[in-house]
Amino acid sequence: MDRPSKLPQHVTLIMDGNGRWAKQRGKERIFGHYEGVSSVRAVMEASVEWGIKYVSFYAFSEENWNRPDSEVSGLMDLMGKAMSHELPTFKKYNVRFLVLGNRERLSSGLKAEIEKVESQTKDNTGLTMILFLSYSGKWDIFQAAKKMAQHLIENPDCTLDMDDFDEYLVTRGIPDPDLLIRTSGEQRISNYLLWQTAYTEYVFTDVLWPDFRRNQFLEALEEFASRDRRFGKVK
Ligand code: IPE
Ligand code: IPE
Ligand code: MG
Repeated sequence: MDRPSKLPQHVTLIMDGNGRWAKQRGKERIFGHYEGVSSVRAVMEASVEWGIKYVSFYAFSEENWNRPDSEVSGLMDLMGKAMSHELPTFKKYNVRFLVLGNRERLSSGLKAEIEKVESQTKDNTGLTMILFLSYSGKWDIFQAAKKMAQHLIENPDCTLDMDDFDEYLVTRGIPDPDLLIRTSGEQRISNYLLWQTAYTEYVFTDVLWPDFRRNQFLEALEEFASRDRRFGKVK
């Protein structure tokens, strides 16, 4: 049956292998990034169809700013174009679109593009689709700690418990991922959601991101469905 047997509430994807995919075809790396947009669309459409509530993508890490200028500007250009192009689709599918990360580093043009797509989809009640852009897990924890410290300075008598920390992360209000999928055979977290993946299931696949489409997504969801999640308890 072309439908996963058990759904995660939130699935997150580390889209990796675009450069290698392009190189295998004797093309520039950016060609792989463009092809990767079709994979994002395929995963989004399947998520809408299957009724997944949250799907998120690691699109650009804080470390990725250290790539050659031409690749960084190509990626930023692609990001802005792709989200504007998909706006009618988000509306059609009732998708709420969010971008999370260190926005200070983005160009004013891209920031405006993001704000437009976010504001025009903010009341949509179907899938929430998140792009992590200029994001890193350590950065998120650090900015949260700074905000919490400021709150404590201003409210010295307040009491905080550990769950309150979630409210300072950029992911506030978003449930932690149940499943993290990483493509291209790499088996590392690359400074992604460090706090939020404390109990996430990991699925690694050798498939390069531009080749990751509906069937590969379904396979990963089936792998997730077969896992026994115990959360430290005895079953
Ligand atoms: C993932 O593909 C996209 C980004 C990190 C922006 P890569 O660009 O990392 O592709 P490889 O890993 O070099 O093949
Ligand atoms: C991780 O991929 C970041 C994104 C997918 C956006 P990288 O290709 O940058 O990660 P490393 O360098 O292999 O750890
Ligand atoms: Mg990579």
